[in-house]
Amino acid sequence: MTKREAEKRARTLHSELERHNLLYYVHATPRIDDRAYDKLYRELEDLEAQYPALLTPDSPTQRVGGAPLESFQSVRHAVPMMSLSNTYDTEELIEFHERVCKLLAETPFSYSVEPKIDGVAVSCRYEKGSLATGSTRGDGTTGDDITQNIRTIRSVPLRLHGDKPPPVVEVRGEVYMSKDGFAKLNAARTGAGSEPFANPRNATAGSLKLLDPSAVAQRPLAVAFYAVGEWTGDRPPTHVALLDRLAGFGFQTFAQRWVCPTIETVLEALEELRALQATLPYEIDGGVIKVNERDLHERLGSTSKSPRWAVAYKYAAERVETTLTDISIQVGRTGVLTPVAELEPVHVSGTVVSRATLHNAEEIQRKDIRIGDRVIIEKAGEIIPAIVAVQKEARKGRRLQRFRMPDRCPVCAEPAVRQESEVALRCENLQCQAQIKRWIAHYAARGAMNIDGLGESLIDQLIDRDLVKNPADLYDLTAAHLSDLERMAARSAAKLITGIEASKERELWRLIFGMGIRHVGARSAQALANALLTLDAIANAGEDALERIPDIGPVVAKSIRAFFAADHTITLLARLRDAGVSPQSPEPTNGGSLDGKTLVLTGSMQSMTRDEATQAIQGRGGSVSSSVSRKTDYVVAGSDAGSKLAKAQALGIDVLNEKSFIEILKG
Ligand code: IVH
Repeated sequence: MTKREAEKRARTLHSELERHNLLYYVHATPRIDDRAYDKLYRELEDLEAQYPALLTPDSPTQRVGGAPLESFQSVRHAVPMMSLSNTYDTEELIEFHERVCKLLAETPFSYSVEPKIDGVAVSCRYEKGSLATGSTRGDGTTGDDITQNIRTIRSVPLRLHGDKPPPVVEVRGEVYMSKDGFAKLNAARTGAGSEPFANPRNATAGSLKLLDPSAVAQRPLAVAFYAVGEWTGDRPPTHVALLDRLAGFGFQTFAQRWVCPTIETVLEALEELRALQATLPYEIDGGVIKVNERDLHERLGSTSKSPRWAVAYKYAAERVETTLTDISIQVGRTGVLTPVAELEPVHVSGTVVSRATLHNAEEIQRKDIRIGDRVIIEKAGEIIPAIVAVQKEARKGRRLQRFRMPDRCPVCAEPAVRQESEVALRCENLQCQAQIKRWIAHYAARGAMNIDGLGESLIDQLIDRDLVKNPADLYDLTAAHLSDLERMAARSAAKLITGIEASKERELWRLIFGMGIRHVGARSAQALANALLTLDAIANAGEDALERIPDIGPVVAKSIRAFFAADHTITLLARLRDAGVSPQSPEPTNGGSLDGKTLVLTGSMQSMTRDEATQAIQGRGGSVSSSVSRKTDYVVAGSDAGSKLAKAQALGIDVLNEKSFIEILKG
């Protein structure tokens, strides 16, 4: 292939890959399967490896790149990012309408109505059709430069679709996490012993604050666009025409939108939107009403904070009153004691609620919540129900006791301990039945050792009868043990035994994840297995060695070390081994001069292709990463090396030229 032909092919691949991203992530109507997509993707990667000049920042291969930042830079918005004024009822909305009518005198106009997504506002600036900057609102004038993070969001185009995009296109929208994505993320976090996020908005805000783009890429983020900032193209006459224009550029906008000629039809549209709320894939907290004719926006102008041509109509989170009948204590897998409100069951936001989260003792004290109180609970959408207030006047002289966290674990009666840096009380007894139950459930879960037939009620029975105290005990179970249990037919017993037997040869990372080491999720477990290959190597690795592994930071390394150094872990591993648990190691590498090292390749070399270089590195025990970070050991820079070389220099990472790279390969 000549250089010309390569350029042409790369252009075609760019637009094909972006088109498939659009179909998959924005329209949810994929035309090709993952494998066909990967094939195109790899073809482009190979071309870019061969002709590094083709590698431009807007290439679909460049979504996750760049080293973790120390902090975000500030960016000044070309056009300030405004907020919206809020209304909470029909009356306030009609006042807004009357103001608009007065300002526009007799000019005819209509409104648009669309969802108000509960997320985090961003501005994305495209210059000559390519994404140049992504930023948060900040104070409206200056925000944080989160370009690296925005680039990882697959539904955001790196290049605008369509012919001849205007020189500057600045679009504004809301970054959000779908209800599904949020649920999965939280399940994974609790699985790894991390705190779950309280709601999708917090999860989104937390994700955008991450300084490492490869971590952001793991978060299920999306953006819905609804406004523009600086804009040098022709001006669509109405807001809905603008949304269509944005959709034409490949942006996700709203499928649900209404054009309303009167305020009465606006109210109807808001009703319809409210009825759709539960079926939408994302959380909304109301609707946004905008004057549809854009040339009237200038006439209406804005106050210092918000435009006079738009307003938010916020749904109040539903609140109901009920009685707090008790406060129970839940013991988590890592021993954390969490107070839970037991409530007289009530209907809120379409579900029956009988429990609410109380987070921790401090919150109970701050709100002065006492058992027997009449309490107001609130629930909006996916948010976990919470007590927002206590009806103190309803106590009417009744003397209710203040709640105190127990000094002991309610399950095993061992003392509850507060560690210095934590708010939470913990039961530190590793033999505590509550912890063991959650541990076994985690070990057997589909995402870990995937033991078929081992459900919650069965785990309860096995532990209550002292048949199981840790995962190794599972392998000693026999059909005779199981035949005594409730609701255990011979067939289910046989199925469970087969399931347990089959788990002996799961991949290594599943066993590591299933161990339930604090801070070690499925992803870190995979990183550990890939880097160290055997259980023994992981168990014996020092903190320094662990920290050199991609995705393993100091806190995680410390936790892993402490886990494997503990006597009970040593015994547990020995018993698992004796029981025949022999986890499957990832493909072994030959070991050698690059053992445990991470290299990044950039530019092209005379003597080998990028694939050959990758193989050579892996064959010597090293791994190849696509982006430069502090964990990179060497950057191999061929000719035409690009931004990765600059980044390596900025981070002070060793750079090898072709000659010194080959010397290292030779050992
Ligand atoms: S328009 C100048 N439309 O809600 C107009 N905002 O509470 C700027 N939001 O600042 C905003 N959905 O972050 C607009 N459909 C929507 C929205 C929306 C969510 C956010 C946005 C805004 C905040 C105001």
